[in-house]
Amino acid sequence: MTTTRDAPALTATDLVVEFPAGRGQKVHAVSGVSLEVAAGETLGILGESGCGKSTVGRSLIQLPPPDAGTVRLGDVTLTGLAPRELRRARARMQIIMQDPVSALNPRRRVKDLVWEGRSIWGPGDDARDKDARVDAALRDVGLDPATVRDRRPHELSGGQCQRVCIARALMLDPEVLICDEPVSSLDVSVQAQILNLLETTTRRRALSMVFIAHDVSVVKNISDRVMVMYLGKVCEVLPSDGMQHEAVHPYTRLLLASLPEAQLGSAAPAGPPAAEERAAELPSPLNPPSGCRFRTRCPLATERCAAEEPAPREIRPGHRIACHHAEPRRNHP
Ligand SMILES: Nc1ncnc2c1ncn2[C@@H]1O[C@H](COP(=O)(O)OP(=O)(O)O)[C@@H](O)[C@H]1O
Ligand code: SF4
Ligand SMILES: [Mg+2]
Repeated sequence: MTTTRDAPALTATDLVVEFPAGRGQKVHAVSGVSLEVAAGETLGILGESGCGKSTVGRSLIQLPPPDAGTVRLGDVTLTGLAPRELRRARARMQIIMQDPVSALNPRRRVKDLVWEGRSIWGPGDDARDKDARVDAALRDVGLDPATVRDRRPHELSGGQCQRVCIARALMLDPEVLICDEPVSSLDVSVQAQILNLLETTTRRRALSMVFIAHDVSVVKNISDRVMVMYLGKVCEVLPSDGMQHEAVHPYTRLLLASLPEAQLGSAAPAGPPAAEERAAELPSPLNPPSGCRFRTRCPLATERCAAEEPAPREIRPGHRIACHHAEPRRNHP
């Protein structure tokens, strides 16, 4: 966990989210996740599809609220707020979704989409500046106001729609931006542009960001710290710089081993797990393995791993793991 003198911008403690699945069963989507994001920091959330990343993102903005656990935005505890106060506080935290086209009302024009939140949450006399402020917001995200202002979402490309979503979120001057796979639905050529826009915007505004994705190199490149999730649990949290050398949790090593060396920008991780381990599937979240949830795929698993859940422990400042057996690496470059 980051040590900072200032209060964190966002803190979540012991989040639990379960979905009813019929016949008395439950999907254990998120099972005791805690995280902290400092002001101006980007925390990446990494893990394969189905591990609970989006559910964490949605429970941070309370859509829906978690079944248990608390979320604090600055000094306000969101969990347990009355609906009206919650809506007001939530305007300080904005979410960017994977599919920008369906995130936008198809009947509205770009200028109204960008202004929408402001018209609900902004001060009353705001509307006089609407055109100028919408144009400035569009320019800020790299769109030409004269070209897009009066268009509707279907008249724009996916990348342009994602820029509109970002402008719309920034219009509310949020403190925290939650991005859930914001480039996964875009063409490869457009992905880098949107990532670059998010990176420069958060840096310029000292905005905190939670960046969710399943792509290791994307998360590593944009984040200050990375939180790795597996089947609703946190495996490892560590700085993204040098992550390929420092990561020790067997699941993080497995994710890193699947990447070509070039994408990591330096030496490949040592000790890749066996090929059959890589191919193994996520166990069902209806009935997660006992003890450590990763044990059915873990090359280091022992009897203890089946009997006892590993508690998170700090192995060096800012680097936590939940594993009985992994130890800090010593002999790396
Ligand atoms: N609304 C829902 N109802 C039932 N199960 C859900 C719902 N949303 C997510 N899940 C399940 O919760 C688990 C975590 O999902 P999700 O958070 O979307 O994972 P990720 O974003 O990492 O792919 C998955 O098993 C998924 O099928
Ligand atoms: S606790 Fe055991 S099963 Fe889980 S990751 Fe560590 S070694 Fe593997
Ligand atoms: Mg998701």
